[in-house]
Amino acid sequence: MSVTTLNEFIIERQADFPYAKGELTRLLTHMSVAAKVVNREVNKAGLVDILGEIGKSNVHGEDQKKLDVYADEKFINSLKSSGECCGIASEENKDIVSFDEELPKQGRYIVTMDPLDGSSNIDVNVSIGTIFSIFRRVSPVGHKAAPEDFVQDGTKQVAAGYIIYGSSTMMVYTTGRGVNGFTLDPSIGEFCLSHPDILIPHSGIIYSINEGNNIKFPEGVKQYLKYCQEKDVPTGRPYTSRYIGSLVADFHRNLLKGGIFIYPISAGYPSGKLRLLYECNPMAMIIEQAGGKATDGRGTRIMDLKPESLHQRVPFYVGSRNMVNTAEEFMKKYGWKEPDISDIDK
Ligand code: AHG
Ligand code: MN
Ligand code: MN
Repeated sequence: MSVTTLNEFIIERQADFPYAKGELTRLLTHMSVAAKVVNREVNKAGLVDILGEIGKSNVHGEDQKKLDVYADEKFINSLKSSGECCGIASEENKDIVSFDEELPKQGRYIVTMDPLDGSSNIDVNVSIGTIFSIFRRVSPVGHKAAPEDFVQDGTKQVAAGYIIYGSSTMMVYTTGRGVNGFTLDPSIGEFCLSHPDILIPHSGIIYSINEGNNIKFPEGVKQYLKYCQEKDVPTGRPYTSRYIGSLVADFHRNLLKGGIFIYPISAGYPSGKLRLLYECNPMAMIIEQAGGKATDGRGTRIMDLKPESLHQRVPFYVGSRNMVNTAEEFMKKYGWKEPDISDIDK
């Protein structure tokens, strides 16, 4: 069976892309190069001094792991050298990273990224990932990237994707014409097309949520979880609960098998935990291109949310469209406001 590498695939599909002058090809190729470098470190993380924390925290007050910072540096350097990217918004950097050098200032794209998603799983050898989103810049070419380049609606994304460093390493991405998955073949060092034209089943039997937060969930979520756990053979209930704690891994499983992932608002996270720019928007573009749905639980499409700041958090309901619709019905019926649990925390 002939193998199609990622580079061959991108070039074949280049004509699909309105700005088909090889720009996006170079950008995605540089993304895949950085992914291979990060993959190499992830695969031997236990053997080199790349585990653990660096003793600093990021803008979110989360302890930065060595691999968070390592991945951030690798993707930033590779995207900068592509000459197509003039700036980056990254979970690991408080402000935008805009390049001074002449070559990247000519770049027509910006990238938002979560260089390493699922950091709490790094040291325990559980799947982690990288998430990215690509936009055309709105600021003038030849200048540094500007803040307005990074707060564009999710509908303006020209490409979105993720890399999952799991039992195998895969890159899954879309440029608005379907979703395709590529598996890294270490023997040739190439990402090879393994999952063409991915479509998520309209319904599934997997729900994915951190049930440890149940007491802090809005009533609508609590009632939906009860619904998932009731016996009802025709609808496949009780569903199966699966929660890995790495968005990329939970999302990827549901994309292939069907299911719903929810990170709602809760008393601990009044706006939700996941970030709009580099976790929810890219995953929303991918899931919609695969025939699924992504909303904030209150009827608003994730990609229609107006970004206000780089690290803005939003509630995230994503997966099989029939399951997201049902969850939204429960939110509407029972309410989506977070409960007052001030007495519980005493
Ligand atoms: P990151 O490691 O980039 O900060 O992302 C972690 C996110 C996401 O990957 C996952 O779905 C979620 O945090 C898990 O949160 P809880 O541990 O609160 O369930
Ligand atoms: Mn993340
Ligand atoms: Mn991260």
